[in-house]
Amino acid sequence: MESLTPRQVVSYLDRYVVGQAAAKRAVAVAIRNRYRRQQLDPDLARDILPKNIILAGPTGVGKTEIGRRMADLLHAPFLKVEATKYTEVGYYGRDVETIARDLVENAIQLVKREARESVVERAKEAAEEKLLDVLVGDDAEYAIDDEERAAVGRRREEARVRLRDRELDDERVLLTMEDRSTTSMEVFSAAGVEQMGMDMQGFLDRVAPPKMVDRGLTVARARHVLEVREAENLIDHDDCVREGIHRAEHFGIVFLDELDKVVAAEGAGPDVSRGGVQRDLLPLVEGCTIQTRYGPMSTQHVLFMAAGAFHHARPEDLMPELQGRFPLRVTLDPLDAGDFSRILTEPEHALTKQYRALLGTDGVELTFQPDGIEEIAALAQRLNIDQANIGARRLHMVLERLLEPVSFAAPEESAPVVVDAAYVLRRVEAISAQQGTSPR
Ligand SMILES: Nc1ncnc2c1ncn2[C@@H]1O[C@H](COP(=O)(O)OP(=O)(O)OP(=O)(O)O)[C@@H](O)[C@H]1O
Ligand SMILES: [Mg+2]
Repeated sequence: MESLTPRQVVSYLDRYVVGQAAAKRAVAVAIRNRYRRQQLDPDLARDILPKNIILAGPTGVGKTEIGRRMADLLHAPFLKVEATKYTEVGYYGRDVETIARDLVENAIQLVKREARESVVERAKEAAEEKLLDVLVGDDAEYAIDDEERAAVGRRREEARVRLRDRELDDERVLLTMEDRSTTSMEVFSAAGVEQMGMDMQGFLDRVAPPKMVDRGLTVARARHVLEVREAENLIDHDDCVREGIHRAEHFGIVFLDELDKVVAAEGAGPDVSRGGVQRDLLPLVEGCTIQTRYGPMSTQHVLFMAAGAFHHARPEDLMPELQGRFPLRVTLDPLDAGDFSRILTEPEHALTKQYRALLGTDGVELTFQPDGIEEIAALAQRLNIDQANIGARRLHMVLERLLEPVSFAAPEESAPVVVDAAYVLRRVEAISAQQGTSPR
């Protein structure tokens, strides 16, 4: 399995996240270290534990965004979860062990996807033969003489040509398929089964194999169904499971967002189980074996990246044992007006590009002038200081307010709109006049 270099990871993240160089570097190095470790003698590799990271820093500065972008980038099993979604073992809800189960599931899906891609050509060929069997029959073996056998062969090749030219796509054929419309699974709640840590569907399939029914389909649809089915037949599911568990154990990454939120309120109130979640997380992060429906999985070498604003609670308020398992701390920088200008314009799908595209669909040509961008950034900065500092999230609010009249009037009014400093100042005045007279 090849791996991205730290520089490649950082430059990918740079396309979406402005600044925060230290956080990007830490994340990139941690990812590369998984790969480095894998090259070593297994004896040594066993003792090299992942360097788990905590990304701390004020709200709205890109912590979650880094996690989100990494999910798209990595070809490794990656799970992004919110610590607040879990409850202490014994309480109603998902317990943290499902993190390991979901990671395995994710890894196996990843391996299966790769396996399917590797057999896609063979699956297409096999599906074509099956489709020809349905269309012209496969009765060559019943032919009474060579002549008839040749005729059958010719019919088949003619049909093959028409099939490939998509001439038959709209014709209807009958295909024998599993009847998935009623599965006995519905009796159980999804969460309950998942927590049993066993393969309930597999079990039910063995006890009561799915009913087979004949369905009428178009040739185009049947081709797709058969290709999927043949690909499933061609891949070795047991191998995929074994490889998936291995990948989850050795390359798996869990992005544990909102970790600070499970620090607060040990004791009374509705948060009574939060401290318990921390306690439950400890073995998972420290390394333990979790039963999954595919078999046991060790979390010893799973890389954990935690993120949190740590406003009310500091990383030091985490249980000491848990802190010890997160040797790397990176604090993200607060953002200033200069960062805001860049966030507005530079990222791949920056906000200004989003608005331009959205309004473009209604025929409004929206352009942002550099002085307009600067004014918006300065305004966001001012509001963050005067009201609450919500980081780059402020930009969403500011832009929405500034462009509200344009958004509302389109498509009836579709004159081009230029957002420059004058535009921003005009809008700010209008908004404060509105607020001044509004009875609040
Ligand atoms: N450095 C940045 N570069 C580009 N966009 C950013 C940056 N920081 C924040 N944003 C944008 O601001 C929004 C909020 O950011 P994000 O979700 O990453 O905040 P956070 O740091 O996780 O905050 P919280 O602690 O509240 O969860 C996102 O839409 C994100 O795109
Ligand atoms: Mg966040």
